[in-house]
Amino acid sequence: MKERERWATRIGLILAMAGNAVGLGNFLRFPVQAAKNGGGAFMIPYFISFLLLGIPLMWVEWSIGRYGGSYGHGSTPGMFQRLWRHPLAKYLGVIGVVGPLMIVIYYAYIESWTLAFSIFSLFHQLPTVPASSNAAEVLAPFRDFLYTYIGTEGARGFFLRPAVWAYGFFVITLFLNIWILARGISRGIEVLAKIAMPTLFAFAVILAIRVLTLGSPVSPEYSALKGLDFLWHPDFSSLTNWKVWLAAAGQIFFTLSVGMGAIHTYASYLREKDDIVVSGLATASTNEFAEVVLGGSIAIPAAVAFFGVAAAQQIAAAGSFNLGFVSMPAVLTQMPLGWLFGFMWFGLLFFAGITSSVALTQPVMAFFQDEFGFPREKTAWGVGLFIFLSAHIPIFVRGALDEMDFWMGTFSITLFALIEIVLFAWVFGMDRAWQEMHKGAQMRIPRFFYYVLKYVTPLMLIAIIGGWLFTEWIPLMLKSDPAIWFARLFILAVFVAGLVLTHRAFQKKGKEA
Ligand code: PHE
Repeated sequence: MKERERWATRIGLILAMAGNAVGLGNFLRFPVQAAKNGGGAFMIPYFISFLLLGIPLMWVEWSIGRYGGSYGHGSTPGMFQRLWRHPLAKYLGVIGVVGPLMIVIYYAYIESWTLAFSIFSLFHQLPTVPASSNAAEVLAPFRDFLYTYIGTEGARGFFLRPAVWAYGFFVITLFLNIWILARGISRGIEVLAKIAMPTLFAFAVILAIRVLTLGSPVSPEYSALKGLDFLWHPDFSSLTNWKVWLAAAGQIFFTLSVGMGAIHTYASYLREKDDIVVSGLATASTNEFAEVVLGGSIAIPAAVAFFGVAAAQQIAAAGSFNLGFVSMPAVLTQMPLGWLFGFMWFGLLFFAGITSSVALTQPVMAFFQDEFGFPREKTAWGVGLFIFLSAHIPIFVRGALDEMDFWMGTFSITLFALIEIVLFAWVFGMDRAWQEMHKGAQMRIPRFFYYVLKYVTPLMLIAIIGGWLFTEWIPLMLKSDPAIWFARLFILAVFVAGLVLTHRAFQKKGKEA
């Protein structure tokens, strides 16, 4: 067997894993989900999901990844085949390659907006507004700016008409991603994480302090602290609200990068005796710090300080990108040195985004390198070409981005998490699994989690999926806009291609796989 690539240093590994998890989800998706679902009402199901789904799955994925990697498999088809000696296993693993690949197709596009906006801010190209107490008046120019950029304005029907800039920045962003991937694990991804993660944290801390010390220019009634209060004032009534649970669990998956295949792939570059227990926990905690402490102290408090709680909730509900791309720049550009804070805000998003988008692309890289023996650089550029071509769908087809996000960013994640936990805890066997997790461990996991992994996590996942079937599926499947079907067929086609390629790869290898 060929010697596999490895992480060079422990700190590099932790930063890379944290970079994988800390992404646009922490700073854009979390505030929107929290605001839409009632702030303090959201946080209780959120923390319970973190404890009972997030942390256990993090350990499971590191373990499956390291185990599969020791047999030369860096992606889930080969890993699942190792856990379950059944011809079907590898096909289940295809979700862990196609899922992240489908996500990166739109994720890298959004990431490119952050690069563009950070540069616009630096060169004073964002709109400027006279201070005004009228929220609608302050927000309108920024909304127009965003909508013109992504082309929802001025276009009708099936197609969007994005600005030329949008296309150009996407090409640059994708090129950077692929260039890093072509350099490999330790020389590409690890070096990126060592630069991007500290920078991102520094920017986030500065912005959080700036926002929290913000007096409201509009009304003494409003303040950033009211925003914190909105988020941290527990509301137990939400415990019986099914939709809030779904949103909270979905956010935990997305933000921790679990249920995807991306953690498994990074873990496959561990050494056999590398600790998993402490490192996995460190990754999960770093992500939560970035999400609830930093992420929670920027976009929501800023919006509340300027527009009040009710308006902040409306902004969040009106569109997934409104808090980050409309309300944030509207607030920041009104302050002294606004261009600099704007640059930091979008710059931090860009760093958070790029350390996640390389993680989303690495599973398919590993699949071709490990299962077909393709060389790294050629694989990187080939995959890059595929992403480039496919990205024309979310860039130009109205509604495709949201549709892809639902299937990949929410549905497939949960399904895949259920599959992997059943394979690991029940098929591979909980006792073996427990032993595998503790190989090289610097700390023992409390016994409590043994039972959580075996019973609680799988049952919660079944409940979540069941709940979906009841509440969301039927209205969803009835949506029959041509663009939506186009996106669905595309996903299906790539998935089928993944199955065929997997079949081929393992046929060639025969029994020794
Ligand atoms: N966790 C990343 C975020 O918060 C997104 C991601 C999901 C990255 C799955 C890799 C795998 O934005």
